[in-house]
Amino acid sequence: MAANWKMNKNHIEAIHFVEEFRNRVEQKAINRSDIVICPPFTALRSVQTVLDSEDLEFKLGAQNMYAEDSGAFTGEVSGPMLTKLAVTYVILGHSERRDYFQESDEMVNNKVKAAFRNGLVPICCVGETLREREEGFTNKKVEWQIVHSLEGLTDEQISGMVVAYEPIWAIGTGKTATAQDAQDTIATIRLVIRDHHPDAADKVRIQYGGSVNPGNIDELMAQPDIDGALVGGASLDPVQFARILMFE
Ligand code: PGA
Repeated sequence: MAANWKMNKNHIEAIHFVEEFRNRVEQKAINRSDIVICPPFTALRSVQTVLDSEDLEFKLGAQNMYAEDSGAFTGEVSGPMLTKLAVTYVILGHSERRDYFQESDEMVNNKVKAAFRNGLVPICCVGETLREREEGFTNKKVEWQIVHSLEGLTDEQISGMVVAYEPIWAIGTGKTATAQDAQDTIATIRLVIRDHHPDAADKVRIQYGGSVNPGNIDELMAQPDIDGALVGGASLDPVQFARILMFE
């Protein structure tokens, strides 16, 4: 269950979130889920310090990274820099990165490999636009993205990673895919993975993302193939995110 804050919260606001969130979150949620907080790069160190000093069991995630480990890549952040900050997860290929920053499947694939090389767990995002859905291309699109974004990975790597299915039209719009639509596409993703990596298909964790909130999480998590959620807007509020974690 991951909080994707996107470009929100400075490091002071991030610390306030963690202080409030740890008071709200229930032990049951901590016991049964991996809870991952993905702040902007500028807040990673502050959040890590609070998690560490208060011995909190939440995991730290980044929202992106570069595929090279070091070098002349102005403005980029590398895997080794993240692991040094006790970051354990990294969101890769989010639709906003693919769309606004022209990240191709090949770039995402290189980043996923770099994440593994550095011991990070990738959360690799895939999803279709509204137009692709309306024209009946949802399954083709996610199949293409999965095959190319995960190319060259071993069964063992895929077993240990996370895939997030995020229909682009449902992100930040208040429109959620119905639980059934989310289930159907996620089942397709699992099938595609089974074709290429039979041993990994049941182990890879697949999240749904796109306007997840306390009101729709129960139905989403009740679906057999949905293992978790990547939460944007609703994860900015510690009370809402703590509620989401208490899904039935
Ligand atoms: P949202 O974002 O929950 O605000 O729709 C989800 C995401 O983009 O990860």
